[in-house]
Amino acid sequence: MSEPITVPKAELHCHIEGAAPPSLVKRLAEKYRVDVSGVVDGNGKYIWSDFTTFLKAYDTASNVFRTPADYALLAETYFRMLAAEGAIYGEIFISPDHAREAGLSYRSYVEGLATGIERAKNGTAIEGRMIAIGVRHFGSAAVERVVKEVTAEPHPLVTGFGLAGDERAGHPANFSKAFRMASEAGLGTTAHAGEFGGPDSIIAALDFLRVKRIGHGVRAIEDKDLVRRLADDGIVLEVCPWSNIALGVYTVLRFHPVNMLRKAGVKITLNSDDPPFFGTTLGKEYASVAETFNWSREDQMEITRTAIEAAFCDEATRNRLL
Ligand code: ADE
Ligand code: ZN
Repeated sequence: MSEPITVPKAELHCHIEGAAPPSLVKRLAEKYRVDVSGVVDGNGKYIWSDFTTFLKAYDTASNVFRTPADYALLAETYFRMLAAEGAIYGEIFISPDHAREAGLSYRSYVEGLATGIERAKNGTAIEGRMIAIGVRHFGSAAVERVVKEVTAEPHPLVTGFGLAGDERAGHPANFSKAFRMASEAGLGTTAHAGEFGGPDSIIAALDFLRVKRIGHGVRAIEDKDLVRRLADDGIVLEVCPWSNIALGVYTVLRFHPVNMLRKAGVKITLNSDDPPFFGTTLGKEYASVAETFNWSREDQMEITRTAIEAAFCDEATRNRLL
């Protein structure tokens, strides 16, 4: 029997700090004498129990990346792993606030990550871009500061701006100025919504932030008018099925709305979010969703095409990848 040919994949939604292998976090923690025993267990697994403790563990793990070289290693490791799973393109969320907390300037952070992305590309041809995120529960001033940093020091691989963090904190109206600044600067924009918040949270993100992509967005399924709006307006959902299951948004994959949303005409992409925290990889997302919902290879190719079409990259790169 011949080997199955790997489906080309593309990812739009992965937090780079959340992609850190626990073994790397442990190694750097020893080097910098940081206590991570509360977030990485003896078996090399992350320790957390709900969204709040996940966010805390994520903060602690982020804090062991202290130099551009640490971030270069993290990005290279992640993009090489993505490429090994058949990915041709990946966007990572980067968090300048987490880097500052670890003592790194915006410029050093981005240059370190870019070095890692370029190194991985040299070995594998994978294309990578970065989306700088503001953390919602840090408030609107912190989120605006991120846009100002990005626009004051433009980098060719930082092509997007986004909002992550606790969706239950702060109304999207608080962040409309930041998103207006980002759009005016030519950045692609996306916001987490409809992960822990319901349909109203997604509607508010669309209305106040004017985004064409939504991180998660899966709880749109609870409002059929919203599902129609997403489909009609061509809004792209960055769906992260195993993240939703790990965080208890859905119990098992067969009850996840990804297939229903797709059947309703909503543009869907598949993503890993924070892979080692949630026991997933991009390859697992594609394979498990395809198996559970009987998606063909052509169905999976359509997911990848949707991601490339919605990617925050230049047209020449997009056309080369399509
Ligand atoms: N930051 C990292 N992972 C996240 C998630 N799943 N939702 C919101 N913010 C995050
Ligand atoms: Zn996310």
